[in-house]
Amino acid sequence: QAVCEFCFLRIHISLRDITESMLSKKYGSIFTVHFGPKKVVVLAGYKTVKQALVTQAEDFGDRDITPVFYDFNQGHGILFANGDSWKEMRRFALTNLRDFGMGKKGSEERILEEIPYLIEVFEKHEGKAFDTTQPVIYAVSNIISAIVYGRRFEYTDPLFTGMADRANESIHLTGSASIQMYNMFPWLGPWINDLTRLKKNIADSKMVVTELVRGLKETLNPQMCRGFVDSFLVRKQTLEESGNLDSFYHDDNLVFSVANLFGAGTDTTGTTLRWGLLLMAKYPHIQDQVQEEISRVIGSRQPLVENRKNLPYTDAVIHETQRLANIVPMAVPHTTSRDVTFQGYFIKKGTSVIPLLMSVLQDDSEWESPHTFNPSHFLDEQGRFVKRDAFMAFSAGRRVCLGEGLARMELFLFFTSLLQRFRFSPPPGVTEDDLDLTPSVGFTLNPSPHQLCAVSWD
Ligand code: HEM
Repeated sequence: QAVCEFCFLRIHISLRDITESMLSKKYGSIFTVHFGPKKVVVLAGYKTVKQALVTQAEDFGDRDITPVFYDFNQGHGILFANGDSWKEMRRFALTNLRDFGMGKKGSEERILEEIPYLIEVFEKHEGKAFDTTQPVIYAVSNIISAIVYGRRFEYTDPLFTGMADRANESIHLTGSASIQMYNMFPWLGPWINDLTRLKKNIADSKMVVTELVRGLKETLNPQMCRGFVDSFLVRKQTLEESGNLDSFYHDDNLVFSVANLFGAGTDTTGTTLRWGLLLMAKYPHIQDQVQEEISRVIGSRQPLVENRKNLPYTDAVIHETQRLANIVPMAVPHTTSRDVTFQGYFIKKGTSVIPLLMSVLQDDSEWESPHTFNPSHFLDEQGRFVKRDAFMAFSAGRRVCLGEGLARMELFLFFTSLLQRFRFSPPPGVTEDDLDLTPSVGFTLNPSPHQLCAVSWD
């Protein structure tokens, strides 16, 4: 058997090692590792990951609900759920994201409303070096708030900052070494401090969401849905009135779906945007070209989604940022939904599967220079934007990111609006070469702590 097995106890191993040298190059595109007592099948490279997630989408489309994922949602909601309940919650969320905002205000309008607030915070620093993390996370959290609750929050509102900071911290805790130990040996739980902290975050978040939902319930007008929560409550009420008391539209699914939209939709988008700004400061000649294109095509007008087709270079830079930053390198673990034969191997129903998105985004048979920041990966010889099938930053198939459309819109509008307004550079005394692109490894790959100067053109 070409599938090899070995002990995988070095948890904080370099991800690049995993894909490049140690594992996939050495053991091929499908191999097994052991997370403690648990056997996990790893899929590497564009062709293999695509075959599993797209061609055999049903076979590989279930979520592996590890102990920590179970603690998050107890099997409810979207991200860490399976079966008919997951299907219904995913479908309902997708419809709402597509309509949102709910036929009245589209997502684009909600993002455009938020942009001036983010710009204002950047301007307050008057070109001095600062950490972009918090304002960026607050801005993208407000987009989800607008869609879910039908309103944005002030960046100083403690209820909101508490929610956003907790969600951010929980993502980082989920990727910690001790939580990986807990996933392997759940009986260690009582001795793991990160788990205690995470459980407290989960309980606090649940309390806040429940409280916000209660407020919305009291002022609900079925003719005027303000957001996802209203829409869910109306559906629940309608089903109850028609005597269906046993539907998937219950409070746990509401609270955990809301938590999932925040959890999956803020750190990811915010981190990507921050990678984009860091890369602009690191590669000023690329920033020059983005700014030249924005100034030539849009001038000082507000960038809109419809401008994207006329900004091929900027679009390529955003895609290349996502490709290189590769923020969800191992996707979120899947399991096989039935016994599967795959590339000649037999994989039992319920086997944990990791599709290594990183190995797709950096597959050297797909990308000319996989490890360098090269926007030409997404441009043809005439400088036109080209879509690439191996661009799987949002994964693919049955579990493909539910917020892909929204995230793409946010990244484009926030990035172009910030680049139109500011020049990004390293702090005084730090050179472009000094800016470190080594990610801080967690559940998602974040830029290492850094500061940037955002100098306004005015
Ligand atoms: C799932 C990436 C933004 C909601 C995922 C997955 C990835 C991903 C890799 C796992 C797919 C798999 O299991 O194979 C990203 C990236 C984003 C982003 C790179 C931003 C740059 C968003 C946003 C939302 C969102 C804005 C919410 C509006 C979700 C949900 C799932 C998911 C709910 C779970 C889907 C399921 O299990 O059925 N995302 N995401 N994501 N994402 Fe995103």
